Amino acid sequence: MKIAINTGGGDAPGLNAAIRAATLAALHRGWEVVGIKNGYGSLYSDEPFIQLTRDTVRGITMQGGTILGTANRGNPFGMPYQKEDGSWDLEDRSDEAVDVFQSHGVDALIAIGGDGSMAIADKLTKKGIDIVGIPKTIDNDIWGCDVTLGFDTAVTTATEAIDKLTTTAESHQRIMVVEVMGRYAGWIALHSGLSASADVILIPEVEYTIDSIVEKIEEREARGRNYTIIVLAEGAVEKGGSRFVKGKTVGQAEQLGGADEYIAEILSERTGKESRSIVLGHLQRGGTPTTYDRLISLRFGAEAVRAIAEGNLNKLIVLRDNRIERIPISDVAGKMKLVPLDGDTIQTARDIGICMGD
Ligand code: F6P
Repeated sequence: MKIAINTGGGDAPGLNAAIRAATLAALHRGWEVVGIKNGYGSLYSDEPFIQLTRDTVRGITMQGGTILGTANRGNPFGMPYQKEDGSWDLEDRSDEAVDVFQSHGVDALIAIGGDGSMAIADKLTKKGIDIVGIPKTIDNDIWGCDVTLGFDTAVTTATEAIDKLTTTAESHQRIMVVEVMGRYAGWIALHSGLSASADVILIPEVEYTIDSIVEKIEEREARGRNYTIIVLAEGAVEKGGSRFVKGKTVGQAEQLGGADEYIAEILSERTGKESRSIVLGHLQRGGTPTTYDRLISLRFGAEAVRAIAEGNLNKLIVLRDNRIERIPISDVAGKMKLVPLDGDTIQTARDIGICMGD
């Protein structure tokens, strides 16, 4: 038995723990394990795989990033290439990828990734590749699972950063707008904002108005609170406005963000207060995984191997009510898990007086 492991999309703390658990669980069964480098990138090179051994995965549970490397542009069904006129386009190279797996005797693939990776995995399964998926993304937006690996660490990092920004905002009596990642979902903003006692949390699921934020700032000023912390999800949208997009590269998802400066500036104008904005950015993707992320990553990795051993293929390993389950990858592809507006977390934010921007 020979399995391959791939990490695709943006990196997330916990990837290495999942790689280690999957590798060791497979080696224990006497299987061979190989890794794909840079998110399917090495499939198109002379050395498509690297051997994963006890030595290669030793001591990596606590390391951020991925020892395999990853890429946001590694979709075999849409690989970017440069045309003669210098412009970029996409081509379908999935048949080549399938050939590489088959000619190297790979029996199954463990695809560790987010929604994009699961959409690719779903298409590869239809071309005859046996896959088990592991849900990874700091955004926590994969449909069908309670939590994805990397989310807890990103929220912890964001919470600590907001804590630090709160003391300086209070000292200077400023408005501080903190932009966090999350793409089209507000999980990171809601969980970190609530945990760090933010005053305003803006998430993509709730359209915001500047008026409601101003009202909150004025209410705080009236109570002698001369500073305000606003946690802004990069994908948040103003009522009647549109999402802030920084750019788009061929073959990659659009790059979100930039509303932090707009909001800080307009709030200064409206309230007469000093404001500052900060983008936490890729800090949220780095660093040592929390214990929680290490543990779920190890559980996901070992369960993926158990699923392959049982021939329970084309499944995504998920955590539901703290139990590991397997659901069809095809159920997940093309869907997104957003913050439920009637969920208790958002209700808690509202109950303790946090302004959600509406
Ligand atoms: O999906 C993870 C994520 O970090 C998003 O939160 C963010 O929008 C995006 O990736 C950033 O991607 P890149 O690394 O290409 O800038």
